[in-house]
Order: sequence, then C-alpha cells, then structure tokens
Amino acid sequence: MTTLINFVTHSRLWRSFFRHGMPDNPLDRSLVMTTNIFFHLHPVKVNVKSIRAGYSMGLGVITLAAFISLTITGVLLMFYYVPSVERAFVNIVDLQTKVPFGQLLRNLHRWGAHLMVLITVLHMARVFYTGAYKPPREFNWGVGVILLILTLGASFTGYLLPWDQLSFWAITVGTSIASYEPFMGPIIKKILLGGPEVGQESLIRFYALHIMIIPLFMALLISLHLWRVRKDGGLAANEVKD
Ligand code: HEM
Repeated sequence: MTTLINFVTHSRLWRSFFRHGMPDNPLDRSLVMTTNIFFHLHPVKVNVKSIRAGYSMGLGVITLAAFISLTITGVLLMFYYVPSVERAFVNIVDLQTKVPFGQLLRNLHRWGAHLMVLITVLHMARVFYTGAYKPPREFNWGVGVILLILTLGASFTGYLLPWDQLSFWAITVGTSIASYEPFMGPIIKKILLGGPEVGQESLIRFYALHIMIIPLFMALLISLHLWRVRKDGGLAANEVKD
C-alpha cells in the first residue's frame, strides 16, 4: 500500500496537480501551504487555535462572501434598472412582477446588503474582543474601519435607487442630518444631492457612487485587507504559544 501511495504521489500526473508529495513530512506540509493559492492565504505554519471555527467564527469570510454575492446580483440588476426618476420605480415594480426570478434577485441583493452590514459589525466586534487590533495589526484595523464606512456608504446610496417613498424620505432625512456637520455639512449635502433637494441629479450621483465608485474602492481595500492578514502572520491567534 505504502509503495502504491509513493508511486502515485511521485508520478508526473500527481505532481502536475499538487507539486508536492503526500503531506506526511514537514517539507511537504509546508509545500501544501505555499503552492496552493487558497491555502497560501494562510501563513506556512498555522496555529490550530486560529483555524478553530470558534475563533474567527468565519465572520470575515462571510463578509467577503456577501460582498461577492452583492457584486453578482448587483450586476444582474443593472440589466433592468435605469437611474431615471421617471423609470426607476416602474423598473423595480416590473422586475418584481414580470421578470422571471426578478423578485428573488432583488431580495438577494437587498437582504444580502443588510446581512453584510450586520456581519461586518460582528466581524469588527470579534476582532476587538480577541484583541487582534493590536500591533502589528493596527494598520489592518484602520483599513477595516474604512471598509466599514464604505459598506455603510454602499448601503445608504443603494437605498435611494428604488425611488419609492421610503427611499425618497430616507435620503431626504439622511442628507439633512449630514448638513448639520459643523464645517463641511452644507457642502457635503450639496455634493451628494447635486441640488437643493432630492431629485434626478441626486439619483444619478447615488447610482454612480453605488455601482462604481464605492465597490471599486471596496474591492481594492478588501484585497489590501486580505494581503495584510497574510503579511501580519495570519490571524492573531497564530502568535499564541501552545
Ligand atoms: C468589507 C468588509 C470586510 C471584509 C470582507 C473583511 C475580511 C476579513 C477576513 C476574510 C479576515 C480573515 C478571517 C477572519 O478574521 O474572519 C479578516 C481579518 C481581520 N479584519 Fe476584516 N474584513 C472586513 C471589515 C473589517 C472591519 C470593519 C475591521 C475593523 C475595524 C476589520 C479588521 C480586521 C482585522 C484586524 C483582521 C485580523 C484579525 C486577526 O488577526 O485575528 N475588518 N477580515
């Protein structure tokens, strides 16, 4: 049996897939980590505590999954949605009532967005609770804070797009609150709305922010965030001595 396993794991076919032998020795174990793109997200040596489900509760990965799902469903929604005050609401009603799986698509996007906000906050709470914000991870904590603000920004800008009463008044109230910021308040409101009140100019601005500017920054920062997790030596639990 051992001879057969040796023969298979040293064959050219096995090597073309795995590039290392059976991971039953320290060298092959580390090659498993360094030659596989998915495992490579972990450092070469991983403390068993850091991969225990109860440590991170997978909250960062769930946030990432929510972001990917929102990107896919968002791109599909763009096939129907037109950011015009005359057409936006009718589009959404048509999508829900006439387009096959339209309601499912919209709900996946809407509920996914709520879920992402919730899970991002829980992920941040977990990082705080386990003290993983401390050096050398303080930079990644900072990146995380910007990601949280961008997540809330994506949620806020998406809120206006259905152009129903809820959207209209939520954004009217939200931007009025922003206008009370002592120094830049009125300017922030003007930049966001593109005019004195919520209208076509606001819709197109929120649309551009929602589908392009915010997701682009998020994708860049998420890549930086994950790269930093790797460069900081994996999750903070890796530093715990057994
Ligand atoms: C779009 C939002 C975010 C995504 C996709 C994301 C993703 C991830 C992933 C996949 C990990 C590694 C696995 C895990 O801890 O579950 C991680 C770790 C980490 N995240 Fe986030 N994150 C986000 C937001 C945040 C926020 C809001 C903060 C804090 C303000 C934060 C701070 C950190 C820190 C410090 C680590 C390292 C944790 C450790 O070493 O134990 N992240 N993040």
